[in-house]
Amino acid sequence: MVNKAVEDLARARGGDAAWQAIRRRAGLEIDTFVGLRAYDDEVTTRLVAAAAAEFGLTEDAVLEAFGEHWVRYTAREGWGPLLQAQGTSVAEVLLGLDAMHARIRLAMPELRPPSFTCTVVAPGTLLLDYRSERAGLGPMVVGLVRGLGAVYQTPVEIEHVAGRADGLEHERFKVRLGAA
Ligand code: HEM
Repeated sequence: MVNKAVEDLARARGGDAAWQAIRRRAGLEIDTFVGLRAYDDEVTTRLVAAAAAEFGLTEDAVLEAFGEHWVRYTAREGWGPLLQAQGTSVAEVLLGLDAMHARIRLAMPELRPPSFTCTVVAPGTLLLDYRSERAGLGPMVVGLVRGLGAVYQTPVEIEHVAGRADGLEHERFKVRLGAA
């Protein structure tokens, strides 16, 4: 599903030609991905690197753009109601992310979902702790939270405040909601 969304983003940005170029750069045999099949993470890593080279972006920038795109992509692919069931605001969705991925796991038993802890530290200010068995996906969280802001029409500021590089076991973000 993630790989399909990378394909979707590549096509949205540069059409079929861009997707074919990325696919070739990543050395992929397959033409397109099947939604509910689990693929090796390594395929995604290669795709992100190829998309970065193709569009002249850093891999972090690709992950961030991907995160933003994911929220729109999943809504289009029929997951919108699940997101909406989670709440009517960015904060409610962030507080319910683990429950939501647990429900998605019912449809995809091979899912290895992330885990989030969200703490309200002041009105409109949240600390978001992101735990994952995968490293390096922090920039994707930045994009995801911005994507949620767009869906719920809420101005969002998100800042990475600490993480594995500082000796923590997870990545920590500060999120400000509603501030223009
Ligand atoms: C309805 C919307 C959503 C759906 C259907 C969905 C589904 C998924 C799926 C299929 C994966 C791949 C996991 C795997 O292959 O093992 C994933 C990973 C992830 N999701 Fe969601 N997700 C949604 C919304 C969100 C939102 C709003 C966030 C906000 C922060 C989020 C954060 C993440 C992160 C960070 C990962 C990376 C996995 C990792 O760290 O190992 N997701 N999600």
